[in-house]
Amino acid sequence: MFRFPRSFLFGTATSSHQIEGNNIFNDWWFYEQKGKLKYKSGKACNHWELYKEDIDLMAMLGYNAYRFSIEWSRIFPKEKEFNEKALQRYQEIVNLLNERGITPMVTLHHFTSPMWFMKKGGFAKEENLRYWEIYVKTIAENLEGVELIATFNEPMVYVMMSYIQGYWPPFVKNPLNAGKVEANLLKAHAIAYEILNGRNFKVGIVKNIPIFIPASESERDKKARDRVDNLFNWNFLDAIWSGKVKTPLKTYDVPKSDVDFIGVNYYTASEVKHSWNPLKFFFEAKLADLSERKTLMGWSIYPKGLYEAITNVQSRYKKPIYITENGIATLDDEWRIEFIIQHLQYVHKALKESYDVRGYFYWSLMDNFEWAEGFEPRFGLVEVDYKTFERRPRRSAYIYGEIAKSREISD
Ligand code: NOJ
Repeated sequence: MFRFPRSFLFGTATSSHQIEGNNIFNDWWFYEQKGKLKYKSGKACNHWELYKEDIDLMAMLGYNAYRFSIEWSRIFPKEKEFNEKALQRYQEIVNLLNERGITPMVTLHHFTSPMWFMKKGGFAKEENLRYWEIYVKTIAENLEGVELIATFNEPMVYVMMSYIQGYWPPFVKNPLNAGKVEANLLKAHAIAYEILNGRNFKVGIVKNIPIFIPASESERDKKARDRVDNLFNWNFLDAIWSGKVKTPLKTYDVPKSDVDFIGVNYYTASEVKHSWNPLKFFFEAKLADLSERKTLMGWSIYPKGLYEAITNVQSRYKKPIYITENGIATLDDEWRIEFIIQHLQYVHKALKESYDVRGYFYWSLMDNFEWAEGFEPRFGLVEVDYKTFERRPRRSAYIYGEIAKSREISD
């Protein structure tokens, strides 16, 4: 048996737009209604109304932590309109969690932004950071009972999907713009760190750390792999301390900042190949083929990658780590159980080797709105019936609860 320390957090993760429903003031909603996205989030899991039941469910299942995001567009639906009621709702969520012994972790930005903010150019314009500052201050001054707070969720995924590949709002395909957004997200993190750290929050950032594998043993492919690893994984994080961020077209100066922890999201691996196409920055990347079976996202399963992500991140930055997301989209719940145990075994290996990992958050508590992929991929420990909004815990939900309570997994 493998045993986890008493203080270890066993939680689940969600985000506002993916579960709450009716986030009518954010950019995703705006483009969903316009028909620019294939799927509409609609009422999602109706969590905005069912939050009490959902927290009761987590407590019943035995989880001791929960990561969720605050929807900026609920707090400030218009530039000059502050919705105190919405903030009170988040306060109530935090209170209910604390009453049940569930440690909350709050994300301030999980891919969605208020539409009014996006109409002004969003994070592509540095002067817009004053709106972000107002939002962060509002949360810092009003939200009580939270210690762990993350500024951004997967900043490089946001940059890539929304400003390079253009699959997500605002559908921009412009590397120079992307570079500006990347630099401005770092500036926004620095602003938030100063505000929040000054108020005794423990402030982190959540970074997706995919494993990159060279397509062949050739020097060219290996070099391309290293370049992509830097562009996607390390240049962003390095910049928090160095104050300089290298993007494909330009290096930007950003304020030097810090984090109190790093949130690591880990799912799968990608394969990188050299390309002669300068428009592709001399590389091509695609999902790696490392396991026979693929999830509903088409991803292979590579549990050791979680160990690699932990050891790489901590050797570089020497900061405490939380696994802020790890999960599988499948209808085969036995496979989910196997997935969780295999990944936790690698977290345990890292702990045994004295890496400082403080918690694991399974993505996701329940099935939800998987962005451009809609409701089809089912990541949940709990099944959601989208007609009745009924929650049905899968067997994995109970097994994960047993793990959380006993702090033990098989070796
Ligand atoms: C990362 C994102 O943070 C989350 O929003 C998404 O649903 C999961 N990965 C699964 O793709």
